[in-house]
Amino acid sequence: MKKNQFKDQIAQYIDYKQNNIFLYWKGRVALYAILKAMGIKPNDEIILPAYTCVVVPNAIIYLGANPVYVDICESTYNMDITKVEAAITDKTKVIICQNTYGLSSDLGALINIAKRYNLHTIEDCTHGFGGFYRGKPNGQFCDAAFFSTQWNKPFSTGIGGFAITKSAKIVANLAQLEPKKYLPSLKDGLSLKALYFVKRYIINDFSYWTLVKLYRLLSKYNLVIGSSSGGEISSTKMPNNFFKDFSSAQAKEGLRNLKNLTKLMQVRKQNAKIYSNLLQKLGKIYVNQNLFDNHGFLKYPILVKDRDSFLKLAEKNRIELGDWFISPLHPVIGDLTAWQFDKKSFPVATFIAQHIVNLPTTPTNINKVITFIETNINHIL
Ligand SMILES: Cc1ncc(COP(=O)(O)O)c(C=O)c1O
Repeated sequence: MKKNQFKDQIAQYIDYKQNNIFLYWKGRVALYAILKAMGIKPNDEIILPAYTCVVVPNAIIYLGANPVYVDICESTYNMDITKVEAAITDKTKVIICQNTYGLSSDLGALINIAKRYNLHTIEDCTHGFGGFYRGKPNGQFCDAAFFSTQWNKPFSTGIGGFAITKSAKIVANLAQLEPKKYLPSLKDGLSLKALYFVKRYIINDFSYWTLVKLYRLLSKYNLVIGSSSGGEISSTKMPNNFFKDFSSAQAKEGLRNLKNLTKLMQVRKQNAKIYSNLLQKLGKIYVNQNLFDNHGFLKYPILVKDRDSFLKLAEKNRIELGDWFISPLHPVIGDLTAWQFDKKSFPVATFIAQHIVNLPTTPTNINKVITFIETNINHIL
C-alpha cells in the first residue's frame, strides 16, 4: 500500500511512529481534524498568529470556534511571545504556533505559557517539514502538529497534508474520525495527475511565468485543483466534501519527491546563509539563523519599500520571487472582518504584509538573485 509506505517514510524523516500519523487531502483538513480530536466546540477560542493563511482561521470557524489573533514579531515572522498572555481568556483552548517560511516560533516559551493555562498546543508546520527546533525535527514539541505537502511546500504531493501527535487520546480521536473522510473523486484524481504532468514536463524557465498566472486564474474559478478554492478565500463557509482523504496517487508522488529532500534541505540552508550574510553586510534586515536553531528556510523573507515595483523589476530580470503572505490572512486582500480580523490591532503583521517579498532558496545557483539584490539594494529595508 503506497499510503503506508508514504507514512513510513515520513515517520523515518521526522523520527515518529507510523501509527501516530494521519493523512488528509490538504494541510487545512489535518488542522480541522486535530481541532475536532481535541474536542473544540462552538464559542471556544483558539489563539493563532496574525500572519497566516486564511484557511487556518477557516478551519477554526468551521467548528463554530473563534480565532483570536496575536501580532507577530519582526525578527521571527511568528507570534510575539510578549503578547500571548493578554489574548488568553477562560474560553481559550488551544495556541497554534506557526513555522512561517520554515522559521520556528519561540516554541519553548509558547509551550510554557500553554502549560500554565492548561491549553493545548498545535504546531502549524505547513512550511516546516525538514527543519529543526532545538535539535529535533519540527513538529515534536507541541501536543499535535500538521504539515502541508502542497506543491510549493518542502516536499510535494501536488496537494496534501498530514497530522501527527504523540497523545494517545488525540490518536484515538483522530482514528475515530478516519471513516468519516470523503474519498477523493475521479475528477480529483484526474486533476491531480494533470497537475503532476504539467509540473514535471511543461514547467521550465521559459513557461514558468505564463503558467503560474494561468494556474492562479484557473484555480480561482475552481477549474483546476488549486491550494484554495474561490469560496475558501471569499467566505467562512465550509466547502462541500471538505473533510477529504489522501489518495494513493498523492502518496506515490510524495514518495518520489521525498527522495530528493535531504539534498534540497542542505541547498535551502546554504542559500539562506548566503542571503543572511549579504543582507547583514549591506546593513539590511536579515533572518538571524541562530534564533531557534536550524530552520527549514522554505523561503527567505525580505522587506522592500515598494513591493509592486520590486516585483516588476524581478519579473523583468526573470527572478522568481515569492509573494507569500502579502496579506495578514493570505491571500485575502482587503476586508478581513469575516475572519474576525481588524488590521489596526495588528500593526506589525500589517506592516510586514505590505512590504514582504520572498527570495527563493531552492536554486543550486543563486548568483543571479544575489546580483539582483546588490543592484537593487536601495529598494530593500
Ligand atoms: C501557514 C499555513 N498554514 C496552513 C496552510 C494550509 O495548507 P494546505 O494548503 O495544505 O491546506 C498553509 C498553506 O499554504 C499555510 O501557509
